[in-house]
Amino acid sequence: MSQDIQQSSAPASSPLRLAVLVSGSGSNLQALIDAIESGQLPRTRIVLVVSNRADAAGLQRALKHKIPAMYLPWARRREESEAKLQALLELFQVDLIALAGFMKIFTAEFIMRYPERIINLHPALRPDDGGSTYTTSDGTVIPAFRGAHVVPDALKAGVKVTGTSVHYVIPEVDAGPVICREEVKIEEGDTEDTLHERIKAVEHRLVVEAVKAYRKQR
Ligand code: GRF
Repeated sequence: MSQDIQQSSAPASSPLRLAVLVSGSGSNLQALIDAIESGQLPRTRIVLVVSNRADAAGLQRALKHKIPAMYLPWARRREESEAKLQALLELFQVDLIALAGFMKIFTAEFIMRYPERIINLHPALRPDDGGSTYTTSDGTVIPAFRGAHVVPDALKAGVKVTGTSVHYVIPEVDAGPVICREEVKIEEGDTEDTLHERIKAVEHRLVVEAVKAYRKQR
């Protein structure tokens, strides 16, 4: 965890106000909701869920738990949507933004407004040095997969281990300081779906851990 974390303005005693951005199923959002409701993630509130897709199941998950859920169509000119998102983040006094399967890429200007206040889930292993390879726990060097298809990419590359990382978002895509990550073994006969499901099972734990670590540093 980065030590020089940018502090949000909220006093330490008040709950961390989290916004979660989703484009799809929202199982990681659900993991956060469950952790908060079970008391596993104390002093944290999901105050807003936003999706660029009206049909994202994540929006329904939020509504079921009485969390404000907004559909924000993504304009061709990203800045237009980002301005609307910024207004929402201000209105809901958001401290931390979690990208949990949010499939849009922000402009550098937007990201720089929230230094170390945006975290992303990346379903592959990100190296600490930001380089193009990752050395697994058994010393094997594998590609540091980047982009929107890293689960099938890992299968295609024939690696034995992949994983998932939670990292801060910086203007460079799929880069930024890693908060936590974990390896996931690729099994014989794995398909994209079976592998991604096992990765997600790990992510559900890691995303809670990452928010908890952020919360402690405030
Ligand atoms: C996760 O695997 C995340 O790493 C990736 O998108 C997936 C989202 O899954 N960025 P879900 O919508 O939380 O189920």
